[in-house]
Amino acid sequence: MKLIVTGGAGFIGSNLCDYLLYNNHKVLCIDNFDNYYNPKIKSNNIANARKNKNFKFLKADIKDLSIIESIIDDNYDAIIHLAAKAGVRYSLEYPVGYEEINVVGTRNILALAVKKGIKQFIFASSSSIYGNSPTPFKENYNSLNPISPYAQTKLLSEELGKEYSEKYDINFISLRFFSVYGPRLRPDLVMNKIAGSIFKGEKLKIFGDGSSARDYTYVDDIISGIISAIEYKKSKFEIFNLGNGNPIKLSEIIKLFETYTNSRANIEYVDTIKGESEITWADNTKAKEVLGFNPKINVEKGVKLFIDWYKNNITG
Ligand SMILES: NC(=O)c1ccc[n+]([C@@H]2O[C@H](COP(=O)([O-])OP(=O)(O)OC[C@H]3O[C@@H](n4cnc5c(N)ncnc54)[C@H](O)[C@@H]3O)[C@@H](O)[C@H]2O)c1
Repeated sequence: MKLIVTGGAGFIGSNLCDYLLYNNHKVLCIDNFDNYYNPKIKSNNIANARKNKNFKFLKADIKDLSIIESIIDDNYDAIIHLAAKAGVRYSLEYPVGYEEINVVGTRNILALAVKKGIKQFIFASSSSIYGNSPTPFKENYNSLNPISPYAQTKLLSEELGKEYSEKYDINFISLRFFSVYGPRLRPDLVMNKIAGSIFKGEKLKIFGDGSSARDYTYVDDIISGIISAIEYKKSKFEIFNLGNGNPIKLSEIIKLFETYTNSRANIEYVDTIKGESEITWADNTKAKEVLGFNPKINVEKGVKLFIDWYKNNITG
């Protein structure tokens, strides 16, 4: 296949690009190395991929449609649109810019798909769309509850995707990812913070009492779900939860790290932030039945794998 991956230098995107290249697909990665976190990390993420003749890299901003359009040739099989300003908590503190990149940017990439005749469009949505809805979260909820600017942009993007799938020859598949973790994890995400506390003695700020829970999902399982979605052509518009289906309390995750490393995290408890869900929990029945999604790495194994990766890639 010949595929476009936006945000391909980021955490999930670079893991996806490596997987696609390993399986002999051709990849065009579009990323602007934005400064949400250190762009050097992103450059390192794709350093190996750039040695592969099947990999092309376009350093461009998804806000600049005309530049991207003028460079891209035809005959792509699918777009996997991962580029976004991420971070629920950051969006609560600094909401400016989220709509511009996440919504206008998504509209641009949809317009690109229409113009270049690319029919399969995979969108990285988020469990944060559910806010504090009843658990487990089901895709068919009529009223969603996005309680942060970031989550709102993901919901708006799904609505845009629906509009495009109705007007044009596009299959829009929205994948709601649940707390993805694994090698190259974003520095702002909690497992990196826990590891930083254990291995570098950094303070670990816990918002609340540690009882909030997340449905942590290993990046390899997310990539399997993305691949199935690329191949799924039976519907013009579909939404799938990609999550393990097994929420774990933050305090339990910290305990796992402490047990595996035989060390203690240096915890500082601070007040909860409004706008974050208390719990995320995927009902993944639909993804299992329709996409054959089958998450294989439970959190006990995944945390071990993550610690191994972290120890070999410690910086600072
Ligand atoms: N990591 C998670 O747990 C999680 C959960 C739910 C949804 N998601 C979604 O999955 C996608 C990937 O997330 P990630 O964790 O890998 O984040 P990431 O920040 O590591 O990757 C996003 C990439 O997009 C690029 N980007 C940002 N703005 C851009 C722009 N204007 N033009 C071009 N490129 C741009 C960044 O440089 C980065 O490399 C995002 O859409 C995110 O919202 C992630």
